[in-house]
Amino acid sequence: MDYDVRDTGLAGEGKNKIEWSEKDMPVLRDIRADFAIKKPLKGVNIGACLHVTSETANLMITLKEGGANVALCASNPLSTQDDAAASLVKDYGIPVFAIKGEDNDTYYSHIHSVLDTGPQITMDDGADLISTIHSKRKDLLKNVFGGTEETTTGVIRLKSMADKKVLYYPIIAVNDAKTKHFFDNRYGTGQSTIDGILRATNILMAGKKFVVAGYGWCGRGVAMRAKGMGSSVIVLEVDPLKALEAKLDGFDVMTGKKAAEYGEIFVSATGDKNVIGPDIIDNCRDMSIVANAGHFDAEIDLRYLRENSKSIRKVRPFVEEYLLNDGRRIYVLANGRLVNLGAAEGHPASVMDMSFANQALSVKYIYQNSRELGKKVYNVPKDIDESIAVLKLKSMGVEIDKLTEEQEEYLGSWEMGT
Ligand code: ADE
Repeated sequence: MDYDVRDTGLAGEGKNKIEWSEKDMPVLRDIRADFAIKKPLKGVNIGACLHVTSETANLMITLKEGGANVALCASNPLSTQDDAAASLVKDYGIPVFAIKGEDNDTYYSHIHSVLDTGPQITMDDGADLISTIHSKRKDLLKNVFGGTEETTTGVIRLKSMADKKVLYYPIIAVNDAKTKHFFDNRYGTGQSTIDGILRATNILMAGKKFVVAGYGWCGRGVAMRAKGMGSSVIVLEVDPLKALEAKLDGFDVMTGKKAAEYGEIFVSATGDKNVIGPDIIDNCRDMSIVANAGHFDAEIDLRYLRENSKSIRKVRPFVEEYLLNDGRRIYVLANGRLVNLGAAEGHPASVMDMSFANQALSVKYIYQNSRELGKKVYNVPKDIDESIAVLKLKSMGVEIDKLTEEQEEYLGSWEMGT
């Protein structure tokens, strides 16, 4: 079996971590048990480009139990957990091509290694695998039934491909399932971003001025958790509606330039580029901390920072000090890459349970329905999304009421008024 991981000697630690995550993934466990009996993916080649974590390991094991041949590479050069990667190779016989901190060339050569296995279904987090197969490995496209996409940024890229009529096979937008983005993007990113900042810096959050750029689901989660830790939160948002929501949720809302005067920690969660750019860099206080929670490392304008710095030095793991020409210092976390996966372990397993249940069931859906699907981006079928909510509640021991017949009828009627 071909693979490329840092050190297979880390497999023991990785297996412990994979089993630890499995404990908090009851929905995926149910799916795994069902897949093990029914083998719905028997003989299907699956190529996955996801963050290589202990939670992703559980997804890969589930697909393999379902009969698939899976190969995995990283969807970000800094997010790989080398021990989980080693265990997938050694303990579970799954080929992995991923090393934490790999350079860009290695990152893409690993994507090509997964493509060399001839995937019939692709799984992405950020659309780099799909983008590579569509641009550099077109010969492989004819074998592919369809693919899945995990994240907001990837879904945006894929919808743009579909609009331009260059998308060659159907995609299920796992991100857009309610049991994914309501929870993973909000509570997952909220907690894990704070976790990444704390592991990297060990700062006290209470009493700090914390600036969040972007008030989508991820930004909301980060703002909510920063507030919970005692920071005063300022939100930057370009969308008037979301800005209004942030204001009425109790946050200060202002421009980046104004926020730069107050902020001590700046976190981007927008999906756009150079969000932490000259307005903030030129005006922020000495010793400001900047971090990114968005998918790509484009949100902090590192080029501008470099051009305006006298020196750059590493002061702690995942913390670089930029000494600006005017003497101020700015601390960049995790090289401007996803701070939650770069400096911490990503979202907790309990939330990835729902995201990856959507992934596993979407892969099965694609395999069983690919003939009826066009070259478009589809939502996760509603019944799959709802079934995951039901299973998750059950696993938590939560029971809920049902509508009475009378109430159902009332909701379906229009005649009844005052
Ligand atoms: N994205 C965010 N957190 C993650 C995790 N723990 N595993 C895989 N993908 C993730």
